[in-house]
Amino acid sequence: MEKLIFATNNPNKLKEVREMLGGKFQILSLNEINCFDEIEETADTFEGNALIKARFVYEKFGYNCFSDDSGLEVDFLNGAPGVFSARYAGEGKDMEANMQKLLLELKEATTRKAQFRTSVALILNGEEYFFDGIIRGTILTEKRGEKGFGYDPLFVPEGYVKTFAEMTPEEKHAISHRGIAIAKLTQFLQSKI
Ligand code: IMP
Repeated sequence: MEKLIFATNNPNKLKEVREMLGGKFQILSLNEINCFDEIEETADTFEGNALIKARFVYEKFGYNCFSDDSGLEVDFLNGAPGVFSARYAGEGKDMEANMQKLLLELKEATTRKAQFRTSVALILNGEEYFFDGIIRGTILTEKRGEKGFGYDPLFVPEGYVKTFAEMTPEEKHAISHRGIAIAKLTQFLQSKI
């Protein structure tokens, strides 16, 4: 089976992607190919950051590879926190502090509309491809739910009443930005087999 590297060490993302691409490719994480480098995400777009990681692996290890980068873009904040989503309130990547900062920034907001976005970069036999996933929704004024991660307790997707943190993983993945981008990637890869 052909090896395909997913440039992540996040076990949740790996599990999700393995389930979606089930059996077609051998999906390996960075640690599984003995890549322990800290790959710095220095670009100012999701596409750019995803590409940095995929290129790093392709160039150093020679494997076909894909990578994802995601974040929250809030309309009233002109797309912030965007690529800074994980470290919005500081380098500590403290999600509680990030959510509190977001609530503060939106105190006087005239709109609470926002979107999560994922960009996936794939390098397949030297060619670069991109897949985007977006889900629109609303930022609540207080947290609801215990599941998920990041800004999930504050985000209600358009057309739903539950926050991402009140949904089961299956419910969330079926509609999420990451789910959409990975589904596009999966469809593309299947067309290549
Ligand atoms: P990553 O690129 O997937 O690691 O996401 C970067 C940051 O964006 C995370 O640390 C979260 O703050 C935020 N984020 C990305 N995806 C989600 C999600 O599905 N729910 C909540 N927050 C997310």
